[in-house]
Amino acid sequence: MTYENIRLERAEGVATLTVDRPKKLNALNHQTLTELAHALDLLLVDEEVRGVIVTGAGDKAFVAGADINELAEMRAMEAKDKARFGQSVFARLEHLGKPSIAMVNGFALGGGCELALACTLRTASTTAKLGLPEVSLGIIPGYGGTQRLARIAGPGIAREWVLTGEMFSADEAHRVGVVNRVFPPEKLAAGTRELMTTILSRSPVAVRLGMETIARGLNMSQQEGEVIESDMFGLASTTADMREGMAAFLEKRKPKFEGR
Ligand code: COA
Repeated sequence: MTYENIRLERAEGVATLTVDRPKKLNALNHQTLTELAHALDLLLVDEEVRGVIVTGAGDKAFVAGADINELAEMRAMEAKDKARFGQSVFARLEHLGKPSIAMVNGFALGGGCELALACTLRTASTTAKLGLPEVSLGIIPGYGGTQRLARIAGPGIAREWVLTGEMFSADEAHRVGVVNRVFPPEKLAAGTRELMTTILSRSPVAVRLGMETIARGLNMSQQEGEVIESDMFGLASTTADMREGMAAFLEKRKPKFEGR
């Protein structure tokens, strides 16, 4: 597939997925979502790629939402299908099994904010603005935003964002836990890469088990989640990475993880 609206670059084990429609502030039309789905399917099976950074082209927007031109004419069942498709694309990102960071370099609104929420972590430039303005258009978020925001920042923040439709600064988003780290615009790329490098320096198996344990636990009681946690803890203790990590600590050297 030749991409028209996204770019997929790979360097040193990290893929950068850039939504590239800057004239439309990287709004997600059907073509763009289809391309994202395709790229994510490639990344799922690409063993060279260990982490993914998602961002938007240009200096104004991460992604300014679903493409309102395409939404304007939709009827109920068509709208439902659109939402299901967007949800399925973002679910691919969430369940990639590799850490992803949304590098929010400008407006992350509506579907753009939902794209960021589907990533494992979020960094933002001090100039970024985030929000879920759908209620001002007579709709609600439809790409998983109501569910993910409530899980990431809690139901109180989700209600505030979804019901007011207001835009929030990067600092405010950071304060309420939506954004993990904020950087001045000129330091955003380096700061994001450093965060990814830190994660990739840890045991790949342990990172994956940690991500999966948190994700699975969110959909069950704490007690059930802790059973999964102890199972995963047991599984981690069978790995070569565990033996290497412990040996390196005891021998006062840096570990060399192989992801086994
Ligand atoms: N869908 C389709 N086109 C969009 C878009 C979207 N979500 N967001 C921006 N664009 C387009 C604009 O229509 C404009 O296109 P044009 O030059 O052909 O007229 C272009 O991107 C630039 O946007 P513009 O509105 O002129 O920039 P601005 O700096 O004045 O405002 C925003 C920036 C982000 C505040 C404003 O574009 C906006 O509110 N966008 C919609 C956000 C939204 O509601 N998203 C949720 C959708 S469900």
